[in-house]
Amino acid sequence: MKKIDEKRIDDLMSQLTLEEKITMIHGEGIFQSGGVPRLGIPPMKMSDGPMGVRKEFALDSWINIGTTDDYVSYLPSNSAIASTWNRKMAYNMGKVLGAEARGRGKDIILAPGINIKRSPLCGRNFEYMSEDPRVIEEMAVPLIKGIQENDVAACVKHLAANNQETDRLKVDTYLDERTLREIYLPGFKAAIDKGESHTIMGAYNRLYGEHCSQSRFLLTKLLREEWNYDGAAISDWGGVHDTKEAAESGLDIEMSVGADFDNYYMAKPLLEAVRKGEIDEEHINKKVRNILRTMLRLNMLGEDRKNRASGTYNSRNHHEEILSCAEESIILLKNEENRLPLNTKDIKTLAVIGQNAERLHAGGGGSAEIKALYEISPLLGLKMQLGGNTEIRYAKGYFIPAKKEKKLNWQQDSLDSEAISRNESKSRTKKARQEELLREAVELAKSTDDVIVFLGLDHEYDVEGRDRKDMKLPYGQDRLVKEVLAVNPNAVVVIVAGSPVEMSSWSDKAKAIVWSYYAGMEGGNALAKVLLGDINPSGKLAESFPKNLMDSPAHKLGEFGIHNKVIYNEGVYVGYRYYDSNNIDVEFPFGHGLSYTTFEYVNLSVTHDESTIADDVEVRIRVTIKNTGKVYGAETVQIYVADKEASVPRPIHELKGFTKVFLEPGEEQTVELSLYKDSFGFYDVEKHCFVAEAGDFEIQVGSSSRDIRLSETVKLNREYRYN
Ligand code: BGC
Repeated sequence: MKKIDEKRIDDLMSQLTLEEKITMIHGEGIFQSGGVPRLGIPPMKMSDGPMGVRKEFALDSWINIGTTDDYVSYLPSNSAIASTWNRKMAYNMGKVLGAEARGRGKDIILAPGINIKRSPLCGRNFEYMSEDPRVIEEMAVPLIKGIQENDVAACVKHLAANNQETDRLKVDTYLDERTLREIYLPGFKAAIDKGESHTIMGAYNRLYGEHCSQSRFLLTKLLREEWNYDGAAISDWGGVHDTKEAAESGLDIEMSVGADFDNYYMAKPLLEAVRKGEIDEEHINKKVRNILRTMLRLNMLGEDRKNRASGTYNSRNHHEEILSCAEESIILLKNEENRLPLNTKDIKTLAVIGQNAERLHAGGGGSAEIKALYEISPLLGLKMQLGGNTEIRYAKGYFIPAKKEKKLNWQQDSLDSEAISRNESKSRTKKARQEELLREAVELAKSTDDVIVFLGLDHEYDVEGRDRKDMKLPYGQDRLVKEVLAVNPNAVVVIVAGSPVEMSSWSDKAKAIVWSYYAGMEGGNALAKVLLGDINPSGKLAESFPKNLMDSPAHKLGEFGIHNKVIYNEGVYVGYRYYDSNNIDVEFPFGHGLSYTTFEYVNLSVTHDESTIADDVEVRIRVTIKNTGKVYGAETVQIYVADKEASVPRPIHELKGFTKVFLEPGEEQTVELSLYKDSFGFYDVEKHCFVAEAGDFEIQVGSSSRDIRLSETVKLNREYRYN
């Protein structure tokens, strides 16, 4: 973390009264903490979130101020960014997000969300990156760096084990320490150590009985004592439940959803407790120091302000960067008989079926909602790019019940789970309308030269505050796609969604399946370019797509017990760690993603050296990748490590490295990368550290977790310990 002249902090501390210090450590607005104008200390202005800077709210309510100057660029979701497997792309998106946040006058952008995708049903999966900690580490770090280049703080969230929305304020998570350290914490540790995230957000849930946003285990022992974090820790909005616990934990700023700012736990109640001598003022001093240090890092104080980056929003350059990221995020899941790209010369009429072709998603999802300057739908993208020689005929295909009137203060109500039930109408009218739309779509599919069916989810399902009930496609879409495929087996299937859906009842019948996460304002353009072959897809899944819910380890082995207790019995066997170790068939494996070209992997060489770096090993991997097809394309080369003999049960292999190569047809490139001791160990609960044991490790190089092309074994001659 950037070193700060602590004397400047001492100086301010000596002038602050207890009342002023208390002002600084809690919300004095829905999205800002208190400032001390007398000393030139401004409030900390915050905004969500991961997909762009959220609309502007009034200071003391969840009402959008309603002006037109808060339209912003709408970025690809974190799941889309992760599926590019391109660190540079993550950095670029960070730069855009940071510039937009600063441009809107913010000090902290409440992003990125990096919780592990443990269950396919989690309503916020779309906001998160992966089921794999290494992917998260590698992608979150450049994202955070990009944000913070703009003198805006990232706020990596939500620490920790915040993996479901059901009962999110009460759920009490239990997992063994090894699992916590190997799977659920590495992303946060990297965000702090390597990304130097200036702020971090505690989660809503409980962990081992303690509310995460006021947890002494997480915020004091881990964050401050073990990780030596000296930035600012912020609660989730309404995540604090007790004055003493919060004050005595490593939490620095309490934020919440109501306008009774003086009654927040870390406001008047804390002031009184300190006055009565029940809470030591030293706890308050630490918090204020962390906040001031963060302000200094952001050039917020005194003369520094003249040098502070000013940012900008909605620049053309931002939109171009967003388009590039969206293009690289799209995943070609299946492409039998080279069904894609479409051969537009032969298509005079094209049926576009399914409401996800024309629906806009920016405005939903909970706190990740965006008031987008614009959003190109897939239908618009296709029309813009195909032009006038191809007639696109659109059919809705399925019925979506009208939304209930959206409450203005959704977020305030969102802490009450009753208030956010899904809108499901079972009326007869719905059935009749459904039937009518289905018939119309099937008839259309019979009559055109080509057909694309757009399926998926929307922010009724991918949403903060509630999980899905199952993995099924809603709105009768399974029936729609089956009937369309029955009349035209060549129909291309495109899915726009934020989390996996069950496809097994029709996926073997479809020749081509394309996946897009919520890919931002240029998402429709990106999809059209991929479908038409202007862009060769290169996205890969950063999560496994199971065939059905009960295959998922969280649901098969996890326990949802009494008293809101959730027990992660699957341990470290999350995602592919479970499916691959147990040979369970998946719909599409972790790391999977096809291209319009083909890649050959040759000449793997693995060498290692245990003598040149003190107390470390460097395993050097070289492999040559050749583009053996006819078009330019990109391949993400993945490195998995398999511990051949371990003293504890370990997953059959784990991803430890990746690199993306861009190749012209016929071109080849030799990829070189090194793994260090931290790619070989497991967390040893007795030794309280990671241990890489001596012995054989297989280095596997492949195109997905189920498509290993080459492998070689290395031997570590001694044991290594690390944290
Ligand atoms: C979410 C956070 C968000 C905060 C502020 C909470 O409901 O969990 O991710 O940053 O609200 O909007």
